[in-house]
Amino acid sequence: MTQPPGVDRILFTEEQVAARIRDVAAEIDDKYRGRELKLIAVLKGSVFFLTELARALTIPVRLDFLAISSFSGHSAGNAPGMVRIAKDLDDPIQDEDVLLVEDIVDTGFTARYLLQTLAGRGPRSLALCTLLDRTVRRIVQVPVDFRCFEIPDRFVVGCGLDYKQLYRNLGYIAAMNPEKG
Ligand code: IMP
Ligand code: MG
Repeated sequence: MTQPPGVDRILFTEEQVAARIRDVAAEIDDKYRGRELKLIAVLKGSVFFLTELARALTIPVRLDFLAISSFSGHSAGNAPGMVRIAKDLDDPIQDEDVLLVEDIVDTGFTARYLLQTLAGRGPRSLALCTLLDRTVRRIVQVPVDFRCFEIPDRFVVGCGLDYKQLYRNLGYIAAMNPEKG
């Protein structure tokens, strides 16, 4: 397989990602059996994970999207922990079972901010599902209810995750070494 410049090691193949998403979808199906679930994805990175997860679920789901500007320690030059909503949800979530779908929980600032914001809108329940979890870099604690993979302290791309807006469409998850690019 020809890899793009700067992409130096595949951590999870397309097949491994698909299989793991199916397992996590089965966990979510079990937990919400007999209910409807609102899946909320964060643009743009979480959209790839959201669509694959949603297709693997058998319970009825609704989708909504929000966009944020976040500045984690991995985006150079910005103070960590600053998050704001750039595009809000289309619909209220009052009395709904809500699952926030994230591409990665890194420092935890983004997820904590979003969970606090959504909790304030009166959902019946609120949980967090993330494709990737990098707990070694956590600064603020957030409860991760469903997670596909724990990853080491490497910058990663693929499956929705970008480097300078590139590589979101890679089917696998790879560690990135920008100097090699
Ligand atoms: P947190 O607020 O530090 O948890 O970071 C969350 C956001 O930073 C994620 O939603 C991503 O957009 C971005 N991010 C963190 N680590 C990576 C990475 O390894 N690759 C691509 N984006 C990342
Ligand atoms: Mg993101």
